[in-house]
Amino acid sequence: MSPPQHQQQPPAPTTTVFVGTLIHSTGLATLEIIAPGVLGVDSNGRISFVEKLRHSGESEGDDGVEDERLLRELLTRVGAEGVEIRRLPSHSFLIPGLIDTHVHAPQYAYTGTGYTLPLLDWLTTYTFPSERKFSSLMHAQTIYPKAVARSLRCGTTTAAWYGTLHLPATKVLAETCKSLGQRAFVGKVCMDRNGGEGYVEPSASDSLETTKEFINAVQSLNADTVQPILTPRFAVSCSSELMKGLAQLASQHALRIQTHCSENPAECSFIRDLFPDSRDYVSVYHDHGLLTNRTVLAHCVHLSDAETTLLSETQAGISHCPVSNFALSSGVCNVRRLLDANIKVGLGTDVAGGWSMSVVEAMRSALVASKVVGFTQRDALLALSKIPKSVVEDEGPVLYHDQPHRPLTVPEVFYLATLGGARVLNIAETVGNFIPGKEFDAVIVDLDAPETTTSEIDEARRPVTVFEHDTVTTMFEKWVFLGDDRNVAGVWVKGRRVV
Ligand code: GUN
Ligand code: ZN
Repeated sequence: MSPPQHQQQPPAPTTTVFVGTLIHSTGLATLEIIAPGVLGVDSNGRISFVEKLRHSGESEGDDGVEDERLLRELLTRVGAEGVEIRRLPSHSFLIPGLIDTHVHAPQYAYTGTGYTLPLLDWLTTYTFPSERKFSSLMHAQTIYPKAVARSLRCGTTTAAWYGTLHLPATKVLAETCKSLGQRAFVGKVCMDRNGGEGYVEPSASDSLETTKEFINAVQSLNADTVQPILTPRFAVSCSSELMKGLAQLASQHALRIQTHCSENPAECSFIRDLFPDSRDYVSVYHDHGLLTNRTVLAHCVHLSDAETTLLSETQAGISHCPVSNFALSSGVCNVRRLLDANIKVGLGTDVAGGWSMSVVEAMRSALVASKVVGFTQRDALLALSKIPKSVVEDEGPVLYHDQPHRPLTVPEVFYLATLGGARVLNIAETVGNFIPGKEFDAVIVDLDAPETTTSEIDEARRPVTVFEHDTVTTMFEKWVFLGDDRNVAGVWVKGRRVV
């Protein structure tokens, strides 16, 4: 008897190969453009190789035939098997996934409203009443999928989320990150005082118990891309007992910690009243054992030199949230000073303090903030006649870029949005750029999106217009200043397509 005839199935691809322009950071000011580049992703979602297809001087050949030959040759050389090739369209590039180091999921519900109040009034008027609604599981099930989906749509492959005080609702947030495929750190917010309107946990021990339950719940999701993060809201709303308890939990379970620090002058003054024995705001966290190399402090706008030194020594990271700092009139953070002090810095959207879920919006606001710092400092020196007026008139730009607080550049804000964020969250061994062995978290940015017909009116719907004179470098710069979620043509987390 002859064996049964099975229909031949094509073998599942074991390597996905992206061919096109690759852009990533290898350091703060070192943007690497690999064009044309070839990047392989293995079946475990890891980057298996990154190569340049041809070097400058080598011709593109006839109708890409030569490129095709070079590609085959390259794939044979790297031993890629079962290959599926994805060619990037022209005017598009592949970048590492964007990293949002600070964002509040429940606040998505009122994003874009209420920016007339400063921080402490904003919290009691809008934030706490809105977060209190998450005692309803149904409310969480309505808001959280929308918040996480929006974040992914903007190209954010990793987010450090704040939930609320509520255990069931914050579990929903962690489950949502798992089901939608976003890499995430999720925190149940802890606060045992100064909540306002009854938005506060009954005691420090109650907050710690709920936190332990939350850690267990997230760990039992068995999602290697979703982890718990300890989340004392800020020292204003946490007692010493609570902060010390959380520090113990952090060291017992090797957990990351996220909180707010030095965002607004009134908040800093409140901290001085609440903690008269601590030298300054950063020291409050240090004195309670919360300042580790796995701690993320959001904002840090108003730091003394002693505070920057302490952050550099402890290697705690800062989430710079420029959109929020503008929206809540908190101040303008001098990021150059933090970087020069060897402090880890990433970007945060801080929704709803910030009005946008987009890390691209955070990138360009970081550029604007750093320009404001630069010219404010220049003008202060001018007012003191420390710079002769003629020098500014004749050599203004030179002088400006020689200053210690010279503005950030496009490559630098891109670093903050990717590798810098990964360093702040202590995941740079895993993601942040295109180094073989790292997991493949990436975004295809397409400047010809959204798709249009050929009419000029349709083309006007695109946030970015590409002209013949544009180069890869100018297209990248245009994307940073003009791009938005319409340019996000695909998002991958650990090799899995999620948008
Ligand atoms: N400080 C304490 N809580 C918050 C918050 O929810 N948002 C911002 N921007 N700052 C805070
Ligand atoms: Zn915040």
